[in-house]
Amino acid sequence: MASLPQSRSTLSGRPNRDVPRQPAGPPFPAAMKLPPFFEEDRLAVDAALERLLPAETAQPSSIHTAMRYSVFAGGKRIRPILCLETSRIFASVALPTLHPACAIELIHTYSLIHDDLPALDNDDLRRGKPTCHKKFGEAIAILAGDALLTLAFETIGATPAAAERRAAILSEVAAAAGTINGMVGGQVADIEAEGKPVDEQMLEYIHRSKTAALISASITAGALCAGASSEDVARLRRFGGTIGWAFQVIDDILDVEESSAALGKTAGKDLAQQKATYPAVYGLERSHQIANRLATEAIAELAPYADRAARLREIAEFLVLRRT
Ligand code: IPE
Ligand code: IPE
Ligand code: MG
Ligand code: MG
Ligand code: MG
Repeated sequence: MASLPQSRSTLSGRPNRDVPRQPAGPPFPAAMKLPPFFEEDRLAVDAALERLLPAETAQPSSIHTAMRYSVFAGGKRIRPILCLETSRIFASVALPTLHPACAIELIHTYSLIHDDLPALDNDDLRRGKPTCHKKFGEAIAILAGDALLTLAFETIGATPAAAERRAAILSEVAAAAGTINGMVGGQVADIEAEGKPVDEQMLEYIHRSKTAALISASITAGALCAGASSEDVARLRRFGGTIGWAFQVIDDILDVEESSAALGKTAGKDLAQQKATYPAVYGLERSHQIANRLATEAIAELAPYADRAARLREIAEFLVLRRT
């Protein structure tokens, strides 16, 4: 959806690891019948991440082991796949886009490590394994998150694209991860809304900020890397904001409808922690309707691209049909 041994932010050369790693199996249910490009992109992203992350043996080894543990725990890689497939609408070569694609997966993984900390959602299970702080302790988990965030920006800075494209991607991703309508702002509102009644506007704000902003940046970063016009970037930002919002509504639904084994994270936690979720406010049936309506609205934005956006449409459909 790589590296000079001395420079971890480039994507050429030997992988930064000592022992060949077997790729983890696809984190999707076999019944999902995903198109082959999902698996191809996922393998390309995993290979690129393998080169970007420092070897476990690089000092201080504890943090590099923790960073690798969480990055290779088996995420779906939705954000980098969206990034690569958006860039393919505008350019035949998606290779430079591996940089922002991987960077966003690093930011996403940092956000999960911190989201699971006792001070936030206090979770023991993530991507089917003990959470980073359960495995390595809170101090290393906090620092592993910090390090992934920092490595993400080093990686974007090394994107083999024109300087103005690199700068545009940096601004886009930094804003999406930040406090003004971005991921950290949304996480703050999510935590502060626990146990309180929330209205429609607050629920939308939380979902758009904590989740949709980074998903949208995955899409716009792919477009920017491939030289899309500002009109196209604006249209894709609307697509990303709406499909990302639907994605978090589905995440809330799955927390109610699925098991911890299926999700690879603790099911039923949102209710226990009195989180501001769509099922809590609207019930399950309405939440499904809302997710479907948002996905339809998002996909309508892709009309001008006709067949060139066929893959993005398939991903958008997967994002609302997924069961994991
Ligand atoms: C989970 O995201 C956290 C949310 C923003 C809802 P994903 O469902 O993409 O998690 P992974 O990467 O597959 O583990
Ligand atoms: C997390 O939302 C969004 C992030 C920015 C990490 P959740 O708290 O609902 O994510 P999960 O359910 O723990 O994956
Ligand atoms: Mg959370
Ligand atoms: Mg959580
Ligand atoms: Mg959740």
